[in-house]
Amino acid sequence: MKRVAEYCLPAGNMPMPSISDSRFSFHTVGVKLLALLLATLLVVGMAQLARAAPLAQAGEGETLFKEKCVGCHTIGEGDKVGPDLQGVTTRQDRDWLLRWIGAPDQMLATGDPIATQLFEQYKQIAMPNLGLRQAQVESLVAYFEAIDAGTIAPPVIEPAAATLPQGDATSGRELFTGAARFQNGGPPCMGCHSIGGIGALGGGALGPDLTPAFDKFGDAGLASLLSTIPLPTMNPIFGPQGLSPLTPEEQANLRAFLQQAAVAERPTDAIVQLTLLAVGGMVVLLVLAQIFWRRRLTAVRQPLVGRARLASGPISKT
Ligand code: HEC
Ligand code: HEC
Repeated sequence: MKRVAEYCLPAGNMPMPSISDSRFSFHTVGVKLLALLLATLLVVGMAQLARAAPLAQAGEGETLFKEKCVGCHTIGEGDKVGPDLQGVTTRQDRDWLLRWIGAPDQMLATGDPIATQLFEQYKQIAMPNLGLRQAQVESLVAYFEAIDAGTIAPPVIEPAAATLPQGDATSGRELFTGAARFQNGGPPCMGCHSIGGIGALGGGALGPDLTPAFDKFGDAGLASLLSTIPLPTMNPIFGPQGLSPLTPEEQANLRAFLQQAAVAERPTDAIVQLTLLAVGGMVVLLVLAQIFWRRRLTAVRQPLVGRARLASGPISKT
């Protein structure tokens, strides 16, 4: 102990410190070192935590992205139904992104200029409001930020099969209208959607008319939509985790039917179809009227003729 004290203190004519003094100063140094160590640990720990928090948040974002967004977006693999989201945090500001992901429908409705421009650019396909909570929206933005900053690798989404399976339009039509049942028991599409080519009386009005769907999304876009069902109303029913997911074969058949409906509908629109139906209806009515009118005439005339015969004896027919 003494040696340490001697060693530490400068030589010369300074008074030798007493043993208790040197012990005291050693103590102080020890305490200081300990405090320094603790402080360092604390700072490092906080920094670690501060780094871990956004990472955990970004991890949540990644899960959400794979669940709700991959049907329409890639990150770094090109445009799908919606834009490639690589670099999105550098091209849009954070506040805009938070508002957009939370309520894209409201942004469009209020005429936000960026939203309107994107909507035009992406074939007027509206990104649906996915009903996300604020915390979920923030996780997604944290995830995009981490990717753009290079702290997280972009998601690897298994590439779509180079050639999409060819479906059968007739089976697709039966599934659509409910003439055939879905293997997992979902309701027919026609319960909520109308479409050209199944008659002017169409179907349900809860969902949009699907006549233009094939032209709008393209074959690959539809394949992606039908396999992931990123649409809030349909996802709980037909989504991969839904009550009655569509089988790959059903998806292919529906796609083929949607394509056929779009092609069949291109030359004649619904108004022409309605007009034809109205004209056809008139013709049928006229023919029916003709038939019944003539019967009615004979039905009235015969008894009259009979009575006349009885009254005036046989008359010669001219
Ligand atoms: C049904 C398809 C669809 C789904 C699902 C979807 N989006 Fe979109 N998204 C679009 C379309 C289309 C656009 C382009 C704007 C428009 O047309 O409304 C877009 C635009 C965006 C933009 C702006 C891109 C840019 O370049 O500025 C962001 C960010 C975005 N989506 C994030 C998400 C996130 C996050 C999810 C999942 C929670 C998601 N989207 C789900 C279709 C979709
Ligand atoms: C319970 C009602 C309901 C049923 C059943 C239903 N849909 Fe939908 N669908 C909707 C609604 C509502 C939308 C609009 C997006 C949303 O809010 O989810 C939609 C959107 C769509 C879209 C995107 C259209 C667009 O232009 O944005 C496609 C494609 C589609 N449905 C296909 C189908 C097919 C195929 C079936 C049958 C397997 C089906 N839907 C069954 C309600 C339904």
